Amino acid sequence: MSYIEIKDLSFSYTKKRQILKNIGINIEKGEWIAILGHNGSGKSTLAKTIVGLLEPGAGSITVDGIKLDQDTLQSVRRKIGIVFQNPDNQFVGVTVRDDIAFGMENLCVPKAEMLERIEYFATKVGMEKFLDKEPASLSGGQKQRVAIAGILAMQTEIMIFDEATSMLDPYARGDLMEHIKKLHNEGLTIIMITHEIEEALLADRLVIMKDGAIFADGPKEELLKKPDLFQGSALELPFSLRLANQLTGAGFEEVRGYLWESAFRK
Ligand SMILES: Nc1ncnc2c1ncn2[C@@H]1O[C@H](COP(=O)(O)OP(=O)(O)OP(=O)(O)O)[C@@H](O)[C@H]1O
Ligand SMILES: [Mg+2]
Repeated sequence: MSYIEIKDLSFSYTKKRQILKNIGINIEKGEWIAILGHNGSGKSTLAKTIVGLLEPGAGSITVDGIKLDQDTLQSVRRKIGIVFQNPDNQFVGVTVRDDIAFGMENLCVPKAEMLERIEYFATKVGMEKFLDKEPASLSGGQKQRVAIAGILAMQTEIMIFDEATSMLDPYARGDLMEHIKKLHNEGLTIIMITHEIEEALLADRLVIMKDGAIFADGPKEELLKKPDLFQGSALELPFSLRLANQLTGAGFEEVRGYLWESAFRK
């Protein structure tokens, strides 16, 4: 059995329209997958069903052997940290400090340990000077940083990032990716929803969604050799890979190999 098993999953917000259509994905422990797809393809809806915020109309989700339902919701939620696409939906506390603490409180992290982690992760995302500020007074990117600090501080076994870096400046994004790579090397399972090819290239495996269904799913190296797949996913391959694909069969195998390899270097 896989670590996360999503089986025949369907979901509708209204009777009129089915949003998720027979989704099936198995994710192994320690895997890093990127979920790609154009706006409205159902990525965020899928993420919300995985953490039990939306109840599937049909199908099942099993996490670490626990089938998600009303009775198991709490224990499944304890394993998964999620950063939502819109950081405004994530704030509950009066101060930044409260917000970073919130997820840890649900996990019953001891107070002293909690205070330490708040300092550490606020510093990690460069928000240590804002701990006593009201979250509403922050910029979009600062809110995203706080939301990310809160999830990192929970130290869950699985983390879902739903376009979590869309408002970060390149430095903050680079720092975060370095940290996530480190956590991945230590065994973290990562689901990263993104429109950024650079972020997608960090994953081991790509899942492309289209109109609420899985359009493609496989190792990154395999899918990237099929540029047509990306036309349906609102993603543009980086220049080096487009060039590499064009060089196929043109007698430039060595150059192609080099471009290819450099794109995949984590
Ligand atoms: N609360 C809601 N009520 C009704 N329909 C919704 C709701 N949230 C999303 N939808 C619809 O469900 C579909 C999938 O939305 P979702 O947010 O999952 O897409 P997405 O792939 O995350 O898109 P994006 O790349 O823009 O974030 C869209 O057609 C959207 O209009
Ligand atoms: Mg979304």
